[in-house]
Amino acid sequence: MKWKGDRIAFEVYGTSHAPEIGVKATGLPAVAFDIVGLRDFMDRRRAKKAAYSTPRLEADEPEITLSEKEFCAVIKNGNVKSSDYNELYGIPRPSHADYAAHLMDGRLDFSGGGEFSGRLTAPLCVLGYMAKCYLRGRGIRVSAWVSAVGTVKGATYKSGLTEEMLSAGEKGEWSPLHKGEMLDEITRAAADKDSVGGRIECAVTGFPGGISGGIFGSLEGKISSILYLIPAVKGVEFGAGFDLAAMRGSVANDPLRIEGGKVTVIKNDAGGINGGVSNGNAITLGVSVRPTPSIAMKQQSVDLVKKENVDISIKGRHDACIVPRAVPVVEAAVAIALADALLEEEK
Ligand SMILES: Cc1cc2nc3c(=O)[nH]c(=O)nc-3n(C[C@H](O)[C@H](O)[C@H](O)COP(=O)(O)O)c2cc1C
Repeated sequence: MKWKGDRIAFEVYGTSHAPEIGVKATGLPAVAFDIVGLRDFMDRRRAKKAAYSTPRLEADEPEITLSEKEFCAVIKNGNVKSSDYNELYGIPRPSHADYAAHLMDGRLDFSGGGEFSGRLTAPLCVLGYMAKCYLRGRGIRVSAWVSAVGTVKGATYKSGLTEEMLSAGEKGEWSPLHKGEMLDEITRAAADKDSVGGRIECAVTGFPGGISGGIFGSLEGKISSILYLIPAVKGVEFGAGFDLAAMRGSVANDPLRIEGGKVTVIKNDAGGINGGVSNGNAITLGVSVRPTPSIAMKQQSVDLVKKENVDISIKGRHDACIVPRAVPVVEAAVAIALADALLEEEK
């Protein structure tokens, strides 16, 4: 996973079953952070003994080294169990990256998903936490929450952004509304040997207006380009996003008014961005997360060695739903992109 912005560049390296994974980054100024805050943030992504998450439990304690030029964080992979994949040698899991990776470099060993594993989002979270601290120092808050799991809908900024949505993550919660029903939906999918996806929403408050995504770049493009590095993210929308397609201009437009001597953009269907430039409103976005590809239910695949059709049922340790664990990863991605945009503006 590699990304290069206008000021920040990072590389997340390693694979799910390698001895370690990590991140190397340049361009983000050293920030004051507290280790407890970092642990709490990492803990939100970590698999716990919850119905939705993999039984693979990892400590996720990063070792951080800072120099003037580079930020590095290393995380040891402790709980590796490659034997789960022995039966899958040469057999790609449908809709995981296995077959696409085989086309890329001819690989037949798909153990742990290699570099396409969700595990690599742990180092991304370490860097994202630093970016969040950098933004917090400027009064900018980045908050994400689960707004739907399968067909169960929870809190959405589309009906008005609330403090519950903004503070859910800070309180260690992943959903401000209907969490119990969402958990039931995940348990039902797991009982059917299946998986379920959902929607994560993110809001950024305090971000100044007039910040673009760099020369010829858009802020939406910059944010999305990191969000799409997160495995299982298949859609991103800003503000009313895809709903705008069915609206009339008179409904979709966000009116401008003077309030208390200040220009205010009333309503926020644009998601705080016009023409790729922030307009001073909260930046709001929604992310669609696919159902976990690895499921225990019988599925059709192929044996690439024997060149024959096979039916597979995946045994390993997998999340029945990725969505709750991906919430801090979305915050991390958005924070890195916005820190890059601000640094470029302030250079
Ligand atoms: C935190 C996290 C955990 C994940 N856990 C799993 C998992 O246990 N099993 C699985 O098949 N995919 C898992 N994924 C998703 C796959 O890595 C992803 O679907 C795959 O790489 C294909 O990429 P794509 O869905 O973006 O096309 C996880 C993703 C994230 C972000």
